[in-house]
Amino acid sequence: MKKNIYHIQTSSPEATIDFGKRFATQLKPNDLIALYGDLAAGKTTFTKGVCEYFNADQAATSPTFTLINEYVGDMPIFHFDCYRIKHPDEIIMLGFEEYLEKDGVVLIEWPELIAKHIPEDSIELHINYVDDNTREIEIRSPRSMEL
Ligand SMILES: Nc1ncnc2c1ncn2[C@@H]1O[C@H](COP(=O)(O)OP(=O)(O)O)[C@@H](O)[C@H]1O
Ligand SMILES: [Mg+2]
Repeated sequence: MKKNIYHIQTSSPEATIDFGKRFATQLKPNDLIALYGDLAAGKTTFTKGVCEYFNADQAATSPTFTLINEYVGDMPIFHFDCYRIKHPDEIIMLGFEEYLEKDGVVLIEWPELIAKHIPEDSIELHINYVDDNTREIEIRSPRSMEL
């Protein structure tokens, strides 16, 4: 699928949160955002911004032992962290496919670990470490976005 590509650079965690807020203004129910990037790239930090924009009841956290966090706000937010997944089908057992149809936004950390279940029309974020405070973010979106 042909995707629109955007590049953003942030120079602090706060700037990544702000970018998450700005990005969230463009989201629609049932959007799926696949967050690629190494440990400490900023996937959870970005998700915090999305949560803030939708006035979520809690701030996004790294779900160490839980695979999914649900936040209640102006839009339901389903935050998956697949880091500990051993087999891609584990996520199906947890009702993954139903989450894609609950009229919320779905954010997934470590989507590469469930690659076969990531829909082709996902919005991809690729977050790359530049230096301690700087991250380069590439967005690949099936629709055009104002970022
Ligand atoms: N520009 C930046 N954007 C996001 N995080 C940053 C940035 N600069 C430094 N950091 C730090 O990088 C770490 C990112 O952590 P986190 O968001 O939990 O990463 P991930 O979820 O990708 O493992 C935090 O310690 C944060 O303070
Ligand atoms: Mg994380």
